[in-house]
Amino acid sequence: MPNDPYIIEVKDLSHTYMKGTPMEHVALKGANMVVKEGECIAIIGHTGSGKSTLIQHFNGLMRPESGKVIIDGEDLSKKKVDMKSLRRKVGLVFQNPEDQIFEKLIGDDIAYGPFKLGLPLKEVRERVKWAMDVVGLDFEEMKDRQTFALSGGQKRKVALAGILALKPKVLVLDEPTAGLDPRSRNELLDKIKFLNNKEKLTVVFVSHNMEEVAYLADRVYVMAGGTDVLTGTPKEIFTDKEKLQRYQIGTPETVQVLYRLTDLGYEVNTAAFTVQEASNEVIKILAGGEGENHVK
Ligand SMILES: Nc1ncnc2c1ncn2[C@@H]1O[C@H](COP(=O)(O)OP(=O)(O)O)[C@@H](O)[C@H]1O
Ligand SMILES: [Mg+2]
Repeated sequence: MPNDPYIIEVKDLSHTYMKGTPMEHVALKGANMVVKEGECIAIIGHTGSGKSTLIQHFNGLMRPESGKVIIDGEDLSKKKVDMKSLRRKVGLVFQNPEDQIFEKLIGDDIAYGPFKLGLPLKEVRERVKWAMDVVGLDFEEMKDRQTFALSGGQKRKVALAGILALKPKVLVLDEPTAGLDPRSRNELLDKIKFLNNKEKLTVVFVSHNMEEVAYLADRVYVMAGGTDVLTGTPKEIFTDKEKLQRYQIGTPETVQVLYRLTDLGYEVNTAAFTVQEASNEVIKILAGGEGENHVK
C-alpha cells in the first residue's frame, strides 16, 4: 500500500518459544508498534522483555505466530512473502557480530550480501567501499585483513558495513554499542545519526544506554513482559517521573542531576539531555546565585 503511513507496523504480536514443551516461554504478548519512514526509534526495557524477539520479526527472521507485522505494506503473516526483497529492505544487525561475520577477509565478508543479490562486481566493490567508509574502515588498508583477529568494536563495524552494503531502507540494530569502549561507541552513534539524517535510513535500535537513546531517538518504545507499555519522545519519557518509577526506566545522567537540583528547590529544565544543555542549566543557577530561582 503506497499510502501506508508506516514502514513498520506491529499489531498484537505474540510469540512463544518452545511451544508445547516443558520449556515453553512466552516472549511476546500482544506487542504493538509503528514506525514512520525516516524515524529513529529506540526500544528500551529490561533484559528478557522481548526486544530481540520483536525486532527479529522485522526482516522475516521470525514469522508472526499470532498478530501481524507489516513492513512497507507487506503483511509478513501471509504464507507467501518475498523474503529476498524483505531482506533487502530491512537490514538487521545482531547484538553479537560473531553471529554475522562468516568470511575470512573483511572485504569478502562485507561483499557477501551484495554478491548474493546478484549485483555486478563493479557495483559490489563500490558498495563495499561506501559501506566501509561509512563505518570508518579504510578500504585499501582493511579489506584484506582477517576478520577473526579484529577487536570487538571493529567486528561490529564490519557487521554493520555488511548490512549497509545491502542498502536497506530500514536499519535495525540490537544493542549496537554494548561492550564498546567510549570512543568506538561515540563514533558508532555518530554513524547511526548520519545514516538516519543524511542517508535517510529509518533506524530502529535496542539500547540500555539512556544517554544514547536521548541523543539519537525521535521516539522511544518501552517494553515490559513481552509487550509495549509506553511510547513517547525522549523528552516525554524522561520527564515523566511517575512513569519512570512505575516502569523502572533509567534516565540519562544529566537528567538525574537536574532532578536532584529540582528536589533541592532549583528551577531547571529537566529535559536538558545533552551535557551542554545540562551545563547551561547549571550555569543559569550559578549566574543567578541564590537569586530569584532559588527556593529555600
Ligand atoms: N531461543 C529461545 N528459546 C527459548 N526462550 C527464549 C529464546 N530466546 C529468548 N527467549 C526468552 O524469551 C524472553 C524474551 O527474550 P528476548 O527477546 O531476547 O528479550 P530481550 O532482548 O528484551 O532481552 C526471555 O525470557 C528469553 O529468555
Ligand atoms: Mg536482547
